[in-house]
Amino acid sequence: MNSQGLRVFYALWPDRSVNGALARTARRMVRAVGGRRTRDDSLHLTLAFMGDVDSVRLAELLAPPAELSVARFTLTFDRWGCWPRNGVAWVAPSRVPAPLRELATEMEGWLRHTGFELDVRPFNPHVTLVRKAHCTRLPDSTPSIEWPVEDFALVRSTLAPAGSRYEIIGRWPLLNADS
Ligand code: 2AM
Repeated sequence: MNSQGLRVFYALWPDRSVNGALARTARRMVRAVGGRRTRDDSLHLTLAFMGDVDSVRLAELLAPPAELSVARFTLTFDRWGCWPRNGVAWVAPSRVPAPLRELATEMEGWLRHTGFELDVRPFNPHVTLVRKAHCTRLPDSTPSIEWPVEDFALVRSTLAPAGSRYEIIGRWPLLNADS
């Protein structure tokens, strides 16, 4: 990594109540699949992962364009799964609300246009609950979590042997439906 670099990504970061629901879900998941549960204070949904960014370019990321101010929306987490290829067990919404799709698309377009390199992987909204999971069986009942999303965040990630540590370094509100 560039010695002046920071590892950053945009994400939806839950409030205390949604965080609690996700944390309980992660505990159910780890009982089923083993592995390493995401720390309670690290649960989030990634919008765009920029990776290592030169610190002089951080100012651009701290001033996202107005197009990203989409309307507030509610995410309903009603399905979970586990990817054997990377051992990630997750919870996700089966329906992606239009404002979330719009936010992710606008964000990706702006970042690429501005010269940030992003994964080629399509946007696949999920919250990682467990890593190093054994994807042989999932918990019995399906999850049911409602997340009223009111803002998005820029997050700094610091790699550590026990798992990445995250710090929110910027936060921007979404629009009220009537604004
Ligand atoms: P994941 O939970 O599915 O691994 C911080 O690493 C966040 O960025 C994680 O939520 C991670 O998703 C996501 N992410 C997306 N692309 C990534 C990449 N190429 N490398 C690391 N993390 C990535």
